[in-house]
Amino acid sequence: MGPIYEKTATSPVNIAVIKYWGKRDSVLILPTNSSLSVTLSQENLQSKTTIRASPDFKKDRLWLNGVEEADVTKNKRLQNCLRETRRLRKEYEKKLCEEVGAENTIPLSEYNVHICSENNFPTAAGLASSASGFACLVYTLAQLYELPVSDTELSKIARQGSGSACRSLFGGFVAWEMGSQDDGSDSQAIQVAPKDHWPELEALICVVSDAKKGTSSTEGMQNTVATSPLIQHRIKHVVPERMKSMTEAILKRDFRKFAEITMRDSNQFHAVCLDTFPPIFYLNDVSRAIIRVITEYNSSNESGELKAAYTFDAGPNAVIYAPRENIPEIINIIAKYFPGDIDNGNEYFTDPYHLFSGNQVG
Ligand code: DP6
Repeated sequence: MGPIYEKTATSPVNIAVIKYWGKRDSVLILPTNSSLSVTLSQENLQSKTTIRASPDFKKDRLWLNGVEEADVTKNKRLQNCLRETRRLRKEYEKKLCEEVGAENTIPLSEYNVHICSENNFPTAAGLASSASGFACLVYTLAQLYELPVSDTELSKIARQGSGSACRSLFGGFVAWEMGSQDDGSDSQAIQVAPKDHWPELEALICVVSDAKKGTSSTEGMQNTVATSPLIQHRIKHVVPERMKSMTEAILKRDFRKFAEITMRDSNQFHAVCLDTFPPIFYLNDVSRAIIRVITEYNSSNESGELKAAYTFDAGPNAVIYAPRENIPEIINIIAKYFPGDIDNGNEYFTDPYHLFSGNQVG
C-alpha cells in the first residue's frame, strides 16, 4: 500500500444581487455580463469536500452526497477543474524539483484522486449547490496540491465548473468581472467588501419548493442568449451601470439603494426568462405572492425607507435581504400569509452571512 494524501475543506453558497445569465463561451464559461453576489454563512448552507490522492488509485472517482458517479470522465466540468489544478500542480512540482530535488517532491499531479462531496442542505432545493460544490472542489484541490496561487486565480478555475462558483471563493460581497479576453484570463471574482463590512445585513431563505427545477441554468441561459432581444439590452445598457451603483451602495451600506437594485435586477432576470422563446418560468404563484407581500411591506413604511429586498434565482425560492432588526417582523409576515406554502410552513431560516469566515480547511 502506497501513501494516501488527503485534504478536506468547506465552501459557502452565494446568492446574486446582480444576476449572471448568459455565456459568450460555454466551454470556458465566460459570461455575457458581470455579476455581484453576497456570500452566505456556512452554518446553514455549505458544501464539504474531502479529496484523497494516492499512487494506488486506479482511476479518478467521485461520490456526491454518498452516491458514486458512474463515469467521471463524462463529467466535462469536473474534468476541466481537475485538468487545470493538475496543470498548476505540475508547474509547482517542476519548481520544487529545482529547489529541493526530485526525491523530495511528491508527484501528486500524476496520482488519481477520490473525491467525496456533500451538501448540508438538499441539493435539489435550487439553492445554488453547484456554486458551493465547484468552489469547494477547486479549493480543496488547491489545498491538497499546496498551490501557491491567489483565490482570484482559483476563481478562474472554479468558473469552469459552474459560472457562479467563482464567487463562492470569497466571503462578503463579491463581483465576478466578466473580462474581455477570449482565453478567460481576466474573467474572475474579486471581493468588493469583506463579510464584516455590513454585519447588520441578513438573508432570509424561503424554500417555496424543493423540487428539482424544470429548466437548468445552463440550458436556460443558452436559450435566452439565442432568442431574447431583451437580454441584449440588459447586457449593454443595464448591467454595467448597475454594477457601479451596487458597488457604491455596498461600500456606503446604503440599504435603500442596495434593495432597489436587488429587486429590479431579479425582476429583469425573470423578464428576460419570459422573453426567451419558448419562455422559461421559474417563479410560481407563491413566489409572485412573496413579491407582492414584500412590496406592500416596503410601501407601508412611512419614512419611505425600504425594509426588505427579494431576489429569485432559477427557481421559485425567495431570498430576502434585510437589516437584522426587520427579520423577526418579516418572518411573522411570511408565516401569516404563507402558513402552508413555504416548506410546510416551518423551515425558512435566517442566515447572518457575516458569520462566514472564509474557506476553512477541516
Ligand atoms: C440565476 O452558475 O448555475 O443563479 O455556469 O451554467 O453552471 P452555469 O450556471 P450557474 O447559473 C447561475 C444563475 C443564477 C444567477 C447567479 O447566480 O448569478
